[in-house]
Amino acid sequence: MSMSETTTSPITRRSFLTGSAALGLGVATSLTLPGPQASAATVNDALIPAAPKAAAGDSVTVTDLEVMTVTPTSITFSWSTFKEPHTDHVLPNERVASDGEVWLARSDVKQPLRCVHKSYSKSGFHYVTIRGLKPNTMYRFECRSFGKKAEPGLWFTNIFNEPEVTGILTTLAQPTGKYIQTVAIANDIHLGKSGDSINSTPWSEIMVSTMLAEVKRRGIPHIFINGDLCDHGKLEEAKDLKRILSAFGDYQKDYYMVRGNHDGFGMPTPTSFDPIQAVFPKHKLQTCWTMDYGKLRVLGIDSSWPMTNSGFITDKQLKDIERILMQDPQRPTLVMAHHPVTEDAARNTVGWRPFILDKDDSLRLQRIFQKAPGVFFMAAGHTHRAHRDAPDLPGGPQFAQFCASTPFPGGFTLMDIYEGGYTVTFHRAPTAQALQQVSLSRYKQSLGYYGEYTISRMHDRCFTVKRDMSALR
Ligand SMILES: [Fe+2]
Ligand SMILES: [Fe+2]
Repeated sequence: MSMSETTTSPITRRSFLTGSAALGLGVATSLTLPGPQASAATVNDALIPAAPKAAAGDSVTVTDLEVMTVTPTSITFSWSTFKEPHTDHVLPNERVASDGEVWLARSDVKQPLRCVHKSYSKSGFHYVTIRGLKPNTMYRFECRSFGKKAEPGLWFTNIFNEPEVTGILTTLAQPTGKYIQTVAIANDIHLGKSGDSINSTPWSEIMVSTMLAEVKRRGIPHIFINGDLCDHGKLEEAKDLKRILSAFGDYQKDYYMVRGNHDGFGMPTPTSFDPIQAVFPKHKLQTCWTMDYGKLRVLGIDSSWPMTNSGFITDKQLKDIERILMQDPQRPTLVMAHHPVTEDAARNTVGWRPFILDKDDSLRLQRIFQKAPGVFFMAAGHTHRAHRDAPDLPGGPQFAQFCASTPFPGGFTLMDIYEGGYTVTFHRAPTAQALQQVSLSRYKQSLGYYGEYTISRMHDRCFTVKRDMSALR
């Protein structure tokens, strides 16, 4: 499948990096709104099978509305058209080909809804990004096919106060000052994970390769992959991991890895043969690393332990972490480990404390952060969903869980850093294969419950933090 795009305003580096672009050739119509220009991108479905056309008498359903991404200047919508109604908790029935429209209006000034995008999808799956919007501005929207408004699924995304239900969304605040850099973070890529693929390629490979290509296309030089690299921790999976990541660049030079609980599932004991280390010799269990990303310091912590889902950090690694941070405690530092850390995370996560970082290790780590106030953010994966977690100690960093890259919701997170703060936004790789896989994966696990948990809330997937980041200039 290729992509289509119509743009009525030039893509600046800033709008590009804040996640608003999509690729390709195709047919789409874009109409401008008064004020900021709007532009649109939609998936063209040449590479996935066409769905039948709706027949007379079909009770066509326009549903599965998702508003996955908002940035200061863009909103991304997706929805599908089906021949018949269906619930979330069974596999969807056949899609039907359909027209797609996005209607939009500013909500802060009296403005009627206007059609800002039109396209046609032979697969009945629509994915549209509207760009050129005004930051920190409330918009009303409707996505339509067959003249009907797209609705959330029966349950899925049918959640109080979410934009799919309210039809209202405020674009993120634009951090003040000059743009400095963008950090791309993936997690839970789970290479080797079994499950249905939309074609003969293993589906985790589709998701990972597409994501890497998208990060590269955005001109972002590095990607950080925060654990659950391999689904079973097998040697063959680790070899596949290296092969796939090599298309992006070199180990701990272009791509950076953190181990997750699944990476230890091939090691009966901590001293057993380590498949990850066999392929990446420097990647030892319970070993942290640091890298200089311009003036930003990135610290990767290994919170994994063989044959358990729980997270731990050894005494030795904690001492190494402290030594590294104390070399320059004020330096802006982004930390990542696979397991969520805080008491807030323990309470809001399925599995509670036993599923995340050990409580004593968590407190020790946070006490180290107290001595290194440059640590401003700590990213986790593991839960496959997005959630912002409060620190346990005063003045601690922003903790956050990020959505999974391979399983649903399927994508990666960008941190766009400016002098006056940063945005954190979750993105799907907008290619037909990946999006089609995501929409299949949406239905595949835990009778739909998994999807409802991991799709998260908009304010956890995409947000702006004000903070003085000018030291990174
Ligand atoms: Fe995972
Ligand atoms: Fe995990």
